[in-house]
Amino acid sequence: MSVRLRDVSIVGIGQVAVQKRAQEGLRELAARVVRLAMADAGVDRVDALYASNMLSDELQSQKHLAALFADEAGLAGVEAVQIRAATASGAAALRVAYLAVASGEVDLAVTVGAEKMSDGVPTPALAKALDARSEVPDGMTLISQNARLMHLYFQRYRPPEDALVNFPVNAHRNAQHNPYALFKDKPITPQDVLNSRLINPPIRLLDCSPVCDGAAAVILAPRDRAREYTDHPVDVLASSVATDRFRLDDRADPLDLQAARRSAQLALQRAGLERSQVSFFEVHDAFSIMACLLLEAVGFAAPGEGWRLAAENQIALDGAIPITTMGGLKARGHPIGGTALYQVCEIVLQLTGRAGKNQLPAPRIALMQSIGGAASTALTHLFRAWE
Ligand code: COA
Repeated sequence: MSVRLRDVSIVGIGQVAVQKRAQEGLRELAARVVRLAMADAGVDRVDALYASNMLSDELQSQKHLAALFADEAGLAGVEAVQIRAATASGAAALRVAYLAVASGEVDLAVTVGAEKMSDGVPTPALAKALDARSEVPDGMTLISQNARLMHLYFQRYRPPEDALVNFPVNAHRNAQHNPYALFKDKPITPQDVLNSRLINPPIRLLDCSPVCDGAAAVILAPRDRAREYTDHPVDVLASSVATDRFRLDDRADPLDLQAARRSAQLALQRAGLERSQVSFFEVHDAFSIMACLLLEAVGFAAPGEGWRLAAENQIALDGAIPITTMGGLKARGHPIGGTALYQVCEIVLQLTGRAGKNQLPAPRIALMQSIGGAASTALTHLFRAWE
C-alpha cells in the first residue's frame, strides 16, 4: 500500500565557512547554523530538529547530540533526534526530516549536520564505518578501501595515469568562488595532483577530501506553505536509500557500486524523472575514485568510462554534467556529518540563481548522493527549482 505523501520544499539554509580548526565547539557550530537557517526562513520556532554527526563519541566524548544542539539553539522542548549512517549521516538526517514533513506529522523541520574533526584523531574513528570484526583489525581505513578501488580500476581499465586528476582540479577551481569553502585560495593544476604526496598508493594527498570542521542546516516545510517562509523555495522531489554487501570483499564486483546505482534508480523512479533531465550532480567526491565510480553507478558513464567525463572536462560548470559546483567534498571540505547539508545549501543556491560566479545557466534538477563507509550505504536526493 502506498501512502500519499505531501510535497516538501527547502525554505531556509544556513552554513558556516569550513575551517581546518574552528574556534567554536561542535555544539556552538551546530546552534549557529540552526539559527542562520531559521533566520533565512524567517521563523523563531520549528516543530522538530534532526541532527547528524559521525565522530562526536570519539572526538568530543559526547553522545545525545540532537537534544544538546536543540538546547544550544534555544529550541529546548522541541522534538529532536540524531540519525546516523556513518559518512552519509547528513543525508540520512535529511531523509528522516523529509519523511516527517511529507507524512504530515511535522510542519517545519530543521536538519542540522555538524562535525569537528580537529578535536582529535579522526582516522580510527572514521574506520569504524567498516567491519569491526574483519576489516578494522586488518588495518583497513576508508582511505585504504578507496585505494583498493582505485588500484582495481586502473588494473582493470588501464586508463592513462592522469585519468582522475581533473576531479580535484575541477573541485578546487569551483571552490575559489565559494565563500564557505576550505580551499578557496588554492587552485591546483593536474601536475600538482600527480606530484602530491602519496597517502595510500595509488591515492595521493590531492585525491583526498580533507579533515576539517563545519556545520550546515536546512529548513523543510510543506510545499503548499513554502512561500510563507521564502522567496527562494526548492522542492525535494525524491529521497532514497539503498545498501550493498557491507564489506568490499563480499561484493561480486567492487567497482560496481550497487547501493549508489540502486538508490539513484529508486530516486529517479520516485520523482518520475529520466537521468538525462538532471542539470547537475553534487557527488560524494571524498576521493577522486569515488567521484568516478559514482558517475558510473548513476549511469552518466559506462563502467570504466567515468574518468573520461573528467578528462574531457564534461564535469565543469559548462560541461554536460557539472559536478561539485561549489567545490565538493574535495575542496569545500568534508566535515562528515555536515557534508550533505552543505550540498543541499549549494544546490538551493544553484537552483535559485544565487550561486555567484559558479552559477549554472538555468539549472532545473539537481541530484545529490551521499555515501556511507566504503559505499555500503548510499542515499540519493533529487531537488527541483520552482518555475
Ligand atoms: N587536500 C588538499 N590539501 C590538504 C589535504 C587535502 N585533502 N589534507 C591536508 N592538506 C594540506 C593541509 O592544508 C596542509 O597544508 P599547509 O601545510 O599549507 O597548511 C598540508 O596539506 C598538510 O596537512 P596535514 O593535515 O598535516 O595532512 P595529513 O597528512 O595529516 O592529512 C590526509 C592528509 C589526506 C591523510 C587527510 O586529509 C585525510 O585523512 N583525509 C581523508 C579523510 C577521510 O577519510 N574522510 C572520510 C571519507 S568518506
